[in-house]
Amino acid sequence: MKPFALRDLVDDRPHDGVFRVNRALFRDAGLFDLEMKHIFEGGWVFIGLATQAEHPHDYFSGFIGRVPIIVSRDGEGVLHCFVNACPHKGVRLVQKLCGNARRHVCPYHSWTFDSAGANKNIKWQKSGCYGAGFDEENHDLAPVAQFGEYRGFLFASLNPDVPSLEDYLGEARKLIDLVVDKSPEGVELVPGRVVFTYAANWKMQLENCSDQYHFTSTHPSYIRILEERAREQTVEVVQSSIGAADFWQEDAAGVTGGTMSFTHGHVLNWGVMPVSSALPEFERAEELAERIGTAKRNWIFNMRNLTIFPNLQLADNASSQMRVIRPIAPGLTEMQTWCIAPRGESAEARRFRIRQYEDFFNPTGMATPDDTVCYEEAQYGMAEQDRPWLQGHARGLTASVEGGNDWANMIDLKPARSVLADAQLCDESLFANYYRAWSARMAEALA
Ligand code: FES
Ligand SMILES: [Fe+2]
Repeated sequence: MKPFALRDLVDDRPHDGVFRVNRALFRDAGLFDLEMKHIFEGGWVFIGLATQAEHPHDYFSGFIGRVPIIVSRDGEGVLHCFVNACPHKGVRLVQKLCGNARRHVCPYHSWTFDSAGANKNIKWQKSGCYGAGFDEENHDLAPVAQFGEYRGFLFASLNPDVPSLEDYLGEARKLIDLVVDKSPEGVELVPGRVVFTYAANWKMQLENCSDQYHFTSTHPSYIRILEERAREQTVEVVQSSIGAADFWQEDAAGVTGGTMSFTHGHVLNWGVMPVSSALPEFERAEELAERIGTAKRNWIFNMRNLTIFPNLQLADNASSQMRVIRPIAPGLTEMQTWCIAPRGESAEARRFRIRQYEDFFNPTGMATPDDTVCYEEAQYGMAEQDRPWLQGHARGLTASVEGGNDWANMIDLKPARSVLADAQLCDESLFANYYRAWSARMAEALA
């Protein structure tokens, strides 16, 4: 691999009005290895919700970068996160996505571990003629270096040398609050995880979650169907279905939404939406205002796409989705997606949420396939080498200001940068926040 210098990869010159990203970030195998080591295996990543292992001995499996992990709740109710690799010869102890087990028995030579990760049996140990060295070794599952929870959202790091989780999430915690506070009981995943792969780089999904610019171009069929439905529906039914216009409301100042950037690479893209029965949250509108205040309640109804760098996305619009990004190769990414919902909502609201979820978010829905096809088309174009700089990170540059704005102040949110936009500004300058976090992690490796 030709060694890259950081300045050849991310051209960040705010004073010259320049922010550009090199196509190599999307295709280069050497850079991908460094990303795995320094971003996914070198800092906090999201691994799941505490409710995915709610009861004693519940577990679920996953990955931190390339390393397989298990999250397991022990008999006392304490959550643990271990490397999902048998100390004997490294076989993955758990192959299922989730389940309940007091004991995990390795499929290769039957070493056995309890739900707290302690080794409980080494087959025929007494007759094994092991030396003293073996007896002195720890045979338990290896816990990950850092494991933390924020309001039921679980994060872990293989690198012990990271900021506290509180620092890492920073102000973005207030946006996680908007998801959790929808119900006094918090949130849960609607049964039915979807796992799919697309043949393109993980950063295509990272960006697309907050890419408002593509919406009308990539999803015209979805918009047409919404408009048709709105035309055909009776007044009663209009009450329970979102219309295309609901994505483009204006406030008194003509603002339809905007973006915010937070420390450590987290970003929000948001849009003004009314407190209306087009959203399943409507049944709680009054209760929400009483419990958390009108401002936060109104923000819950706003369209919000939150990315917690590098792998968690929480999308809230007509329905609500949790996405986890897992890079597999420079041109291959696995997505896991769920409908995430407030606990205790009525059966009617849940049904409504799931129907709108299927409409927009499902891989069989009217939006996700449009997006993933574009990622794959973009991946072809990443091969171009003569003109390496992409031109997709420049919109909104002169609209971006330091700090927040009136909308942020409403809920005491303090972003590092923000943009207020009309329907056509479609800020791309927020992506700089991803690539500045990316650069900070990669700088040493590329020096
Ligand atoms: S690899 Fe697990 S018991 Fe041998
Ligand atoms: Fe899209």
